[in-house]
Amino acid sequence: MKNILVTGGAGFIGSNFINHILKERDDYFIINLDKLTYAGNLENLVESENHKNYRFIKGDICNAELVSYLFEKYKIKHVINFAAESHVDRSILGSSIFYQTNVIGTNVLLETARRKEVEKFLQVSTDEVYGSLGAEGLFTESTSLSPNSPYSSSKAGADMMALAFYHTYGMPVVLTRCSNNYGPFQFPEKLIPLMIINSLNDKKLPVYGDGMNVRDWIYVIDHNRAIDLVFEKGRTGEVYNIGASNEMPNIKIIQLILQHLKKSDSLIEYVKDRLGHDRRYAIDSTKIQTELGWKPKFTFEEAIQFTIDWYLQNEQWWKRIISGDYLKYYEQQYLGR
Ligand code: NAD
Ligand code: TYD
Repeated sequence: MKNILVTGGAGFIGSNFINHILKERDDYFIINLDKLTYAGNLENLVESENHKNYRFIKGDICNAELVSYLFEKYKIKHVINFAAESHVDRSILGSSIFYQTNVIGTNVLLETARRKEVEKFLQVSTDEVYGSLGAEGLFTESTSLSPNSPYSSSKAGADMMALAFYHTYGMPVVLTRCSNNYGPFQFPEKLIPLMIINSLNDKKLPVYGDGMNVRDWIYVIDHNRAIDLVFEKGRTGEVYNIGASNEMPNIKIIQLILQHLKKSDSLIEYVKDRLGHDRRYAIDSTKIQTELGWKPKFTFEEAIQFTIDWYLQNEQWWKRIISGDYLKYYEQQYLGR
């Protein structure tokens, strides 16, 4: 049995990871440490909350005393760090909390893990640390880091720190860098859930700039299958890119969602561009495919259909969220209302 400290497990990717992994494996005991920020939601974990191999702890990864206590209490030798502030637009509006959680918080986890002599520390990172691509080329693990937003620069800082702990102390650290995820439980500030929910409510769909920025989309379960594989078999000190080779301009995704929901293109509204908006991300995942034998299981067509259906069937989940302040925030920032 492995006692694994999973941080940020009440967010989008972390909760999907926990729900998936508790069904797949009986040799993991998961301690989920999550601060429950606006993005953390225990409703995401209803199917896991009573599982015998699962505990939830509400708390901040920046709290060194708490983190140390949990390592001691649960004899933690394994860490998967999902916890982060994750939204680029929010990082543009105010960056401090991004550096606090993503850099300082990761430092607290790494320092504690070093003292407790962990056997594996997986840092969940993003392709955004590589910066923006032109029309050609792909990010490989040796592409130099060139982050452009406060969010991506904070993630790059954490990546460098994690690798420095490997080089300096020989800590068993491994990194994953994944492209844009979609799937159930994604907070409706990110492109795909925002567009689904706005379409369902016949609200305008704010497209930044010319709508031709490209992202490389992967279904969240494929990302989590890759994380589990890297966690088990990835070589320490290494970085593994994760992507499903599914590049798409934003406007195409939006049109697809409108078609699926049989809504009119007239909902589309071009709005002012995001500051410093990265033009294109695209991942080369040859390394994880050849070295660890991972490949995506889901096609975009089936997984986007499944995702749209999930939002249709889980109105209560997102209605509670959008009754908060998030729509107001978007309307003010991007629609000038
Ligand atoms: P999310 O914003 O949905 O969830 C983040 C979770 O972390 C929330 O539950 C939140 O409460 C928790 N959290 C935030 N600050 C915390 C703190 N100080 N202490 C403890 N918990 C805290 O994010 P996500 O989309 O699930 O992303 C998870 C990880 O994956 C992040 O590290 C992100 O950088 C990375 N990632 C995301 C994507 C994507 O497309 N969403 C792609 C690649 C990598
Ligand atoms: P997002 O989901 O915020 O992910 P990231 O910026 O981390 O890639 O945005 C994905 C793309 O969609 C990005 O190019 C910005 C664009 N976008 C819009 O055009 N309108 C929106 O309302 C949002 C949230 C994003």
